[in-house]
Amino acid sequence: MSAPESGGQTWAAAWELLLPAAAAPPRARGRTLQSALREAVRSARLAPGTRLPSSRELAADLGVSRGLVTEAYEQLTAEGYLRADRGSGTWVGGAARAAAPRARDLAPRPGDARVNFLPGSPDLSLFPRSAWAAAQRAVLAELPHHGLGYPDPRGLPRLRTALAELLTRRRGVVADPERVIVCSGVAQAMSLVGQVLHARGERTLGAEDPGSPEHAQQLATAGIATVRLPLDDEGLALAPLRARRELRTVVTTPSHQFPSGLSYAPRRRTELLDWARSVDGLVVEDDYDGDFRYDRAPVGALQGLDPERVAYTGSVSKSLAPGLRLGWLLVPDSLTDDVVARKRMMDLGNPVLDQALLAHFVERGGYDRQLRRCQRAYRERRDALVSALEEHFPGTEVTGIAAGLHVIARVPESYGPQDAFLERAAAAGVAVRPLSDYTSTVPDDGAVRLVIGYAQLAPARIADGLRLLARAT
Ligand SMILES: Cc1ncc(COP(=O)(O)O)c(C=O)c1O
Repeated sequence: MSAPESGGQTWAAAWELLLPAAAAPPRARGRTLQSALREAVRSARLAPGTRLPSSRELAADLGVSRGLVTEAYEQLTAEGYLRADRGSGTWVGGAARAAAPRARDLAPRPGDARVNFLPGSPDLSLFPRSAWAAAQRAVLAELPHHGLGYPDPRGLPRLRTALAELLTRRRGVVADPERVIVCSGVAQAMSLVGQVLHARGERTLGAEDPGSPEHAQQLATAGIATVRLPLDDEGLALAPLRARRELRTVVTTPSHQFPSGLSYAPRRRTELLDWARSVDGLVVEDDYDGDFRYDRAPVGALQGLDPERVAYTGSVSKSLAPGLRLGWLLVPDSLTDDVVARKRMMDLGNPVLDQALLAHFVERGGYDRQLRRCQRAYRERRDALVSALEEHFPGTEVTGIAAGLHVIARVPESYGPQDAFLERAAAAGVAVRPLSDYTSTVPDDGAVRLVIGYAQLAPARIADGLRLLARAT
């Protein structure tokens, strides 16, 4: 079967959309043809004014009955997609328009850049598609009908058990299944904790500076303001924290501070917990990429030192894919019931199939295999980034390289000022993010400070990207 000659180029472009109709089982053929035609008009593959082949021609080309095509033409004419002019055939009408791009769609996105060094994304091409597909089939086959009812808002017992084992083993978390609450990522965990603390009268939380702007936004939606607290070489600085006597909760990233890359010193971890006990407060621990540490074993989670003073959260966003929207939250006993009640109110629990799939994947060792695979790839990329920075931006200081998916680069003053550097990078199609996006207190020394994400780029792309950036700046 070949694309028909009649109808010109637009018709030929729409042709492949109609082929599934020919392959569909006889009873579904009419419906498939109608939706394929609708889609061709909506997506403008069939532009307004295009003349369609006669029903006889199209039926012959597709190998379907002529009645089926006539029926499809009549139906779409009734719906306004097509126009029938007696004697001169069937035409694409003007009623359906391809959606005009909205202003938001036209804004530059990471995908628009030639090279994307923005932090935050793992390599999505490393997503274990075939293992995931196998898990999906297995889960669907074994799930009883009643398993499709509303889930326990804390999460499927099977997943909570798998996560408790995983987090205890890999991150040193104190995690029996009763304590684990499945949620849709760190973002939801922050909102849940924020809402519960707000209901208990807290209105202000401490947060790291530099730190994640998203944390502050998520807490703001719960009615909680954040006070930014400085870091020193060991982690969150204690004197400024103690000075803010209204604070009882701080949000932290102790295993791999975001974005500086610092790992809290053992002494600071203990001191922070002492502070929490002294104010009868709480430390929120975002363990967003704690599994990725390249030169020695990962630092265990703070939560393991005092599970009654720490709310611990993490997700699969860095290890598998952020689009899965799956994560976990473990809170002290005193908060558990309130958090679960909020979770129930918010969404009645996470989708059961997704939860069962992740449980299956973790139970069969797929999650550990994925982490090992990513760890190898990302270490190689980190090394490629550090050497490409040395080659193309001599004199650059790189910090935060021991772990995670990004580094901080202090590029010498000679490449500045920063605004001009960023403009030239954008013009060359290289997406980079300045450290100033995460803090209001960047030293004013003329240097260009960048947070460079490398996990999503193969080593050769990293080298090419920095060559391109060096030429442009
Ligand atoms: C500091 C930090 N925590 C957590 C996350 C992940 O959030 P989620 O689990 O909601 O995808 C990110 C995402 O980039 C992040 O930057």
